[in-house]
Amino acid sequence: MSHTCRIELDGKSYDFPVVEGTENELAIDVSALRDRTGYITLDDGYGNTGSCKSAITYIDGDQGILRYRGIPIEQLAANSSFVETAWLVIWGRLPTPADRERFRELLTENQMMHESLRSHFEGFPPNAHPMAILSAMINAMSCYEPGIMEIEDDTILERAAARLISKVRTIAAASYKMSVGQPLIYPRTDYKYCENFLHMMFSIPYSDYEPTPEVARALNLFLILHADHEQNCSTSTVRMVASSGANMYASCAAGVCALWGPLHGGANVAVVEMLEFIRQSGMNVAEYVSRVKAKDSKLRLMGFGHRVYKNFDPRSKILKEASDQMLAGMNINDPLLDIARQLEEVALQDPYFIERKLYPNVDFYSGIILRAMGIPLNMFTVMFAMGRVPGWIANWKEIHDDPKSRIYRPRQLYVGSTLRDFVPRNLR
Ligand code: CMC
Repeated sequence: MSHTCRIELDGKSYDFPVVEGTENELAIDVSALRDRTGYITLDDGYGNTGSCKSAITYIDGDQGILRYRGIPIEQLAANSSFVETAWLVIWGRLPTPADRERFRELLTENQMMHESLRSHFEGFPPNAHPMAILSAMINAMSCYEPGIMEIEDDTILERAAARLISKVRTIAAASYKMSVGQPLIYPRTDYKYCENFLHMMFSIPYSDYEPTPEVARALNLFLILHADHEQNCSTSTVRMVASSGANMYASCAAGVCALWGPLHGGANVAVVEMLEFIRQSGMNVAEYVSRVKAKDSKLRLMGFGHRVYKNFDPRSKILKEASDQMLAGMNINDPLLDIARQLEEVALQDPYFIERKLYPNVDFYSGIILRAMGIPLNMFTVMFAMGRVPGWIANWKEIHDDPKSRIYRPRQLYVGSTLRDFVPRNLR
């Protein structure tokens, strides 16, 4: 389809091209708007702005579609692993057996931290937030790799990506160990990605934690489902930083900072806090739900509803199944999980939630899964970051590989004071 968009301004009309994506999404290309008309567009929060063209992830919120590089996440969840999905997201195709083997070796080779990078941990106070540690340590990684500033070919890029994906897991587990005052646990070469993370989190020097296949599978799914979600806040941040030519690690460290905010990575924490609140208040679930529904109530059922997915969140379907399977095999007795089950049941049958299309979202089930795994609350967003690293790298790569890439530099509409004179100190 080829058509244009006509804009009338001050009695003149201008035509701008309408561009079409591979899934028939349409956009008005306003790149020449300011040059031609002197006007800019204003779009608070970027809700109507396509900030880039990207070939990584496709979302259709109305139909509950999420695909990485064209492949539905349902197929990836059923057949793939986090490591394979990460490779797909970054390189745009499924890895061959040789790619898989090479990448696996790179991940194993890079799973340890440089001993002096390790000593950075000693500089953090014991109660430091693991997200602060994660972002600082990812940035610090670039000090140990002079080559990271000039990635000249795909071999170097693959090595840098493997380092980041592998070390993020080691740093994440180490930041937890620091926060509970336990010695850091070294990774093992015989464990796969998820098993190794669980080992570094939960083993102690005199007792090895042995991850069950159900728990490792649930973690794999959690990470796969968080691997990318197109131009969300942290990914846009990574692209913004990358557009200045900053290196992969610096750009991803900035992504961690953006993800830290409660409006982005913190919703699964809010789910567990809500469950805890219900338990401590002694209220039953029906009472809490009726409070949420009350007219003028500011309370929301955390983990329900989504800005983009209005029929269902495809990630939550997959995680629900995984959480049911994992919990069935774990024999856990946790009052918060009981409250979660009751909430889910009540809300799925209640007309208030049905009419407003409020279904449990990915954060509802990820909160439940992470809690059941024994992941402490302040590590939830770190887990999200571990999953999102491949998406950040893929977006960084898109900018890095694009010879036409320009620095991201939005405009603004100035609404401050007009011209006024400086007042000397003695006259103020
Ligand atoms: N509990 C109770 N009522 C709700 C909820 C909820 N969780 N979400 C929306 N509503 C009601 C809202 O009060 C409004 O009702 P009314 O029409 O009577 O005024 C109606 O539903 C529409 O709400 P909205 O605010 O226009 O919906 P939105 O698309 O702007 O908000 C949301 C989406 C995710 C911010 C919201 O559903 C919410 O706050 N959910 C709880 C927080 C949460 O779970 N966030 C994680 C989202 S998934 C993150 C990710 O994809 O990474």
